[in-house]
Amino acid sequence: MELTRELTLFSCFESSNMDTFAPFKFKTVSLSRIKIHDKIFEPFISAEEIDKAVTVVAENITKKYRGKKPVFIGVLNGCFYFAADLMKKINFSCEISFVKVASYVGTQTTGNVRQLLGLDQKVSGRDVIIIEDIVDTGNTIEAVTEIITNMGASSVAVATLLMKPDVYDKKVKIDYVAIDIDPEFVVGYGLDYDGYGRNLNQLYVLSQAENLKSNEDMLNIVLFGPPGAGKGTQAIKLKEKYELVHLSTGDILRNEINNETELGTLAKSFMNKGELVPDEVVIDMIGNCLNEYRDAKGFIFDGFPRTTEQAQALDNLLEEHSTEIDTMLSLEVDDEELVDRIIKRGQESGREDDKNESVIFNRIITYNKKTAPLKSYYDEQGKYHAIAGVGSVDDVFERLTSSIKS
Ligand code: AP5
Ligand code: MG
Repeated sequence: MELTRELTLFSCFESSNMDTFAPFKFKTVSLSRIKIHDKIFEPFISAEEIDKAVTVVAENITKKYRGKKPVFIGVLNGCFYFAADLMKKINFSCEISFVKVASYVGTQTTGNVRQLLGLDQKVSGRDVIIIEDIVDTGNTIEAVTEIITNMGASSVAVATLLMKPDVYDKKVKIDYVAIDIDPEFVVGYGLDYDGYGRNLNQLYVLSQAENLKSNEDMLNIVLFGPPGAGKGTQAIKLKEKYELVHLSTGDILRNEINNETELGTLAKSFMNKGELVPDEVVIDMIGNCLNEYRDAKGFIFDGFPRTTEQAQALDNLLEEHSTEIDTMLSLEVDDEELVDRIIKRGQESGREDDKNESVIFNRIITYNKKTAPLKSYYDEQGKYHAIAGVGSVDDVFERLTSSIKS
């Protein structure tokens, strides 16, 4: 293992988507991504693909070494998975031993000195096959090969699970490579990130897009409130002031309806009754939007989340993007005013769900039953802020910006 390995490390429109692997527990981030410490990793090479590649290496070694009784020397820690699977496929007489490479700073002339620890195997006069998990620049394998050659091995070969040919700059021949990879940071199948991930039975690669950017300075606002509270009205002003991306699930769904998409047809059947569209539909939509606007300075979530499931999914999605909700601003407006506003708007807006009083009432009932409980969800995180939503649009805006400042 390289001791000095470096950590290289539905249609969406802006309104006018891991199992998390943490020590001792998995937590879903999205389909099959995992999180180790602070980094997100994506599935890279499956257990089946690894098995096929290891089989080829075993066959090639068998062709060359059958009858020679070689000594395999595995370089710990990273090689343990590869060494075990490789040895299961080697069915001729051989021995195996494991070493660790120690590195310490020597004199000015000797530079970094490397030593093999735990070699209890006589290698003098033997054919040796070193087993590595990964070869990148080749510092470690160069040192190990040199030490074993100097101990009098009659031949030294190298078998590695992974090889990064683009960064390898040594002369030592790497005889058996199971899989060539680009210079990316991988974990699993013996390889770790800061101690964790070695036990994963397949390989994962560091998600570049997710990790390149530090999103600590983003501003993410949940603009909350019942139908007609003024979310859309205020979002437009907040978007302009803070240069944020405005994501209104209602607007996105209406766009799908206007475009007569399959999703639009599905959404329409719920929206026209004042019911909520199924969680998975809107969660997917928001996941896609977050991926699309990776460079955003932040987001205004208008009309999302509307259920606890949506709120939890949003937290997970934002965590994948190394960010989180900063504040939940809840516009408080009484029911009578809400109905007045919506009916008034309905005369011009053309919104189907504004035209019918019973649908308007159902939207408010649905809000109180399914959405209002999210106030406690955010209050528990210390993020809930009630904002009086009556008065002029500018007055309400002033209250919102003061709350954001504080
Ligand atoms: P959505 O589009 O989000 O509608 P809504 O929540 O019902 O809210 P509105 O857009 O009607 O009101 P608003 O708060 O934006 O207020 P506005 O600024 O327009 O959702 C529609 C449907 O889509 C849902 O019912 C559901 O079916 C589905 N859906 C959407 N998201 C979903 C999700 N996450 N999960 C599941 N389903 C989802 O203002 C209203 C009116 O008041 C305007 O005319 C405005 O001019 C006026 N006004 C604004 N401020 C003031 C003020 N201060 N004084 C006087 N009038 C004002
Ligand atoms: Mg709206």
